[in-house]
Amino acid sequence: MPDYVIRLYKDSDYEAVRDIFSRGIKEHTKTAFLHTLSLPYIWALLLALFLFLRQTTGSYLLLAMVMPLGVAALWLLNRHVYAGYVQNSLTNDMMNIRKYYLERDGYCFWVAELAGEIVGMVAAIVPENPTGENQVELKRLSVPIKHRGKGIAKALCRTVIDYAWKRGSSAVVLSTSMAQIDASQLYLKMGFRRTITEHAPFILAKFIDFRILAFQYDFPKYR
Ligand SMILES: CC(C)(COP(=O)(O)OP(=O)(O)OC[C@H]1O[C@@H](n2cnc3c(N)ncnc32)[C@H](O)[C@@H]1OP(=O)(O)O)[C@@H](O)C(=O)NCCC(=O)NCCS
Repeated sequence: MPDYVIRLYKDSDYEAVRDIFSRGIKEHTKTAFLHTLSLPYIWALLLALFLFLRQTTGSYLLLAMVMPLGVAALWLLNRHVYAGYVQNSLTNDMMNIRKYYLERDGYCFWVAELAGEIVGMVAAIVPENPTGENQVELKRLSVPIKHRGKGIAKALCRTVIDYAWKRGSSAVVLSTSMAQIDASQLYLKMGFRRTITEHAPFILAKFIDFRILAFQYDFPKYR
């Protein structure tokens, strides 16, 4: 039996959930950065820049700096993507969580609590859906590192699936980044299928190969 409880968000959870959310997103910077470094064209580009500078300047100092500066720029770019996403979310839906999630039809926010500590969170929203289908979008799923591997995320996912089922939704949808490997494994394990893989909508997303993965959990058509 789990020793945590899943309950609706309360205002007293505010700082804890914002902190868990921020850390849970920013921790993927390293994976995304290593992926960028694994791309052959990145090294070809850095080499081309090195050779160009060798032809055009006589500065050994500059040449010695090309590779470290290039790698540092790639790190900063990846960090900016995740930190920017966190900043954007904290000033939007995560700014007034009660108002955004608990006072709108189809929106909800839950936390997992263990001995007074918040050990997980998840939210549901009504997604933008051009087909007009009645879907629920799972968002903001996160479990602090020290509480992972205990099935908390599975229980939180199940909470959103049950919520969507009770609302008569046709599916639960969500998106995540390719660096969030644990999350992708979790969604597949929970019965989601991968629907779309595309580059994120920001300049340079293709350059660093930053991809967004979409998942969908379908309910049977006839209940
Ligand atoms: C993804 C995350 C929520 C999983 O939380 P968790 O509580 O550890 O997950 P659970 O213990 O419920 O594990 C559920 C399943 O996920 C998969 N999984 C979780 N962590 C995994 C890992 N490190 N490697 C492989 N699979 C993993 C497994 O299939 C696992 O099922 P199993 O234990 O029966 O094999 C957690 O790693 C996290 O908060 N990550 C950072 C935030 C994030 O990326 N959120 C997703 C937003 S889209």
